[in-house]
Amino acid sequence: STVLSVASEVYPLIKTGGLADVAGALPLAMAARGVAMRTLMPGYPDVIARIGAADSVLAIPELFGGSSRILSARVEGLDLLVLDAPHLYARSGGPYVGADGQEFPDNWARFAALSKAGALVAEGAIEGYRPDVLHAHDWQAALAPVYLAFSAGARRPKTVLTVHNLAFQGSFPFDVFPRLGLPNAAWSLEGLEYYGSVGFLKGGLHAADVVTTVSPTYAEEILTSAGGMGLDGLLHGRGDRLVGIVNGIDTDIWNPATDPDIARNYTARTLKARRANKRALETEFGLARDDSPILAVVSRLTWQKGMDVLVGLCDEIVAMGARLVVIGSGDRMIEGGFLAAHARHPGRIGVRIGYSEVLSHRLQAGADALLVPSRFEPCGLTQLYALRYGCIPVVARVGGLADTVIHANFAAMAAGVATGVIFAPVAHDPLREAVAKLIRLYDDPVLWQAMQKRGMATDVGWDVSAARYAALYRDLTGEVSP
Ligand code: ADP
Ligand code: GLC
Repeated sequence: STVLSVASEVYPLIKTGGLADVAGALPLAMAARGVAMRTLMPGYPDVIARIGAADSVLAIPELFGGSSRILSARVEGLDLLVLDAPHLYARSGGPYVGADGQEFPDNWARFAALSKAGALVAEGAIEGYRPDVLHAHDWQAALAPVYLAFSAGARRPKTVLTVHNLAFQGSFPFDVFPRLGLPNAAWSLEGLEYYGSVGFLKGGLHAADVVTTVSPTYAEEILTSAGGMGLDGLLHGRGDRLVGIVNGIDTDIWNPATDPDIARNYTARTLKARRANKRALETEFGLARDDSPILAVVSRLTWQKGMDVLVGLCDEIVAMGARLVVIGSGDRMIEGGFLAAHARHPGRIGVRIGYSEVLSHRLQAGADALLVPSRFEPCGLTQLYALRYGCIPVVARVGGLADTVIHANFAAMAAGVATGVIFAPVAHDPLREAVAKLIRLYDDPVLWQAMQKRGMATDVGWDVSAARYAALYRDLTGEVSP
């Protein structure tokens, strides 16, 4: 089948989190399955710069207050459609927030435009291009199925909406509704209306033919009032049209045997060489040189990620004899908390506030364990990178974390299948006990190496999940499997 993927961030062009990794890796994985996936994304300045001279394949004379074009380009195996709409995207800052850190006030228009362009393309606006399925990601693309559902056009491809994080719903005040260009019928309980506001994600969840999310456990959690973020009732109504498919990772980009960013390449068979990366990490972060375990964090520093709890545990981690390296940014209070912990224990705690793809690879390659104490986690990718790099994941028992790590309990150790440590709930004492357990495991080199090797042998690539998406597209388009 032919699939149009619509996403607000796509690695390697622009990334704020896991959505970009997935939107960038899925098309490559699908190509191997005979699915031709094109990706529509906004033309942020970095994206326009990256694609260089590109063909314009569609002109849209008026799109939310200005004229725009769709450019076609290929970047690192991705078949891209870039929405070049300077009035919406040509500005400094990130994809969602300005240089001042505030959300752009017209985000509703910026992403309604992305969705609208997706719907136009799906209906066949580009000469010679007729996708069978439109696959929208998160609230930023969620109006695409809505525009299609209310379109008078003759051609309506099937639609899939993937929820990467139900916490981000794209809710806007009522007065944006008349400006979306949707019929009044779209202002209803089955449409965008959400407690008097306009809900982009909510509308998409109703309109899409199939809703997926990024792990089986998260698919269950969002059906509960505790995890449903107010949308559990609606999601219940979707019944068996709600599917959880766990994310894979790009195992070429994340490969310790070939990774160009780390001090020394290694494999499960040459684990000793990994030590050079630990030494390099100590140097990079100014840590004391010894054989105690280094725990790492590569994360948005937010409440979702449980980082406030970890801040409160820093002194005890040091007292337990371990070290900690943190790379991330987010909540100012949490950033300050880690910086203060570093100031108290300079040789034991290293902190880098900011975003660095290169450092994220170095942490996975050099640290002994990765801490992911998320309060909720739809899938999570960093624990998958950790498994692949022989960095033992310590994760909260939620969402995709629970689906991808096997806890080192007695039975799992006896059966020789454990790959990490899982704890619950996300609070000070359980996290401390998880770290204590990790240190005990680390103190037994035979056990520890066995766990590292099992993690490295775990299948974290896209094969299995790509097959599930392919089957989903096939079912939707009524194709018979070959
Ligand atoms: P989320 O999308 O909720 O932030 P994921 O685990 O799915 O969580 O994806 C996060 C992605 O962002 C991973 O690729 C991770 O390596 C990356 N990442 C997070 N923080 C940083 C950072 N400070 N520097 C570099 N990469 C980061
Ligand atoms: C979201 C989720 C994260 C998931 C990512 C990619 O950002 O928070 O858990 O891995 O999307 O699906």
